[in-house]
Amino acid sequence: MAANRTFTMIKPDAFEAGNSGAILKMIEEAGFKIVAMKATQLTPELAGKFYEVHKERPFYADLCAYMSSGPIIAAILEKDNAVEDFRKLIGATNPADAAEGTIRKIFAKSIEANAVHGSDSDENAAIEGSFYFSQAERVG
Ligand code: CMP
Repeated sequence: MAANRTFTMIKPDAFEAGNSGAILKMIEEAGFKIVAMKATQLTPELAGKFYEVHKERPFYADLCAYMSSGPIIAAILEKDNAVEDFRKLIGATNPADAAEGTIRKIFAKSIEANAVHGSDSDENAAIEGSFYFSQAERVG
């Protein structure tokens, strides 16, 4: 996946609350182009695989249970400087620390149920995008 791409999930809390449309609108208005998107639901095993990098963290088991608790939307987004600009748009992991106007400040319920995921590097964006989408399922 090209370096001008990032990967996002709209998490179960935001999906369940009916905030997916509002969040996607903010993403598009910030200049991101959606190049792949699907609604799906992770199994606990798949959530564990996606978040494997956190497997030693105390919150890992809860995170896997939470991320498989309901539907999500997975998407690949394109924009210059995508990873960094998207992390600015979503705000800090803990909504209590997120800047005003960011997606997490507006929609997140807690540090775990924090509305959206955003890749933290170009390398992880490529890995995470490929976790959900084959070449044939995305634009370019
Ligand atoms: P995300 O950006 O998807 O990356 C890892 C996720 O783990 C994070 O968002 C939160 O959903 C969750 N997370 C991170 N830190 C904590 C924490 N201290 N307690 C509970 N969940 C956390």
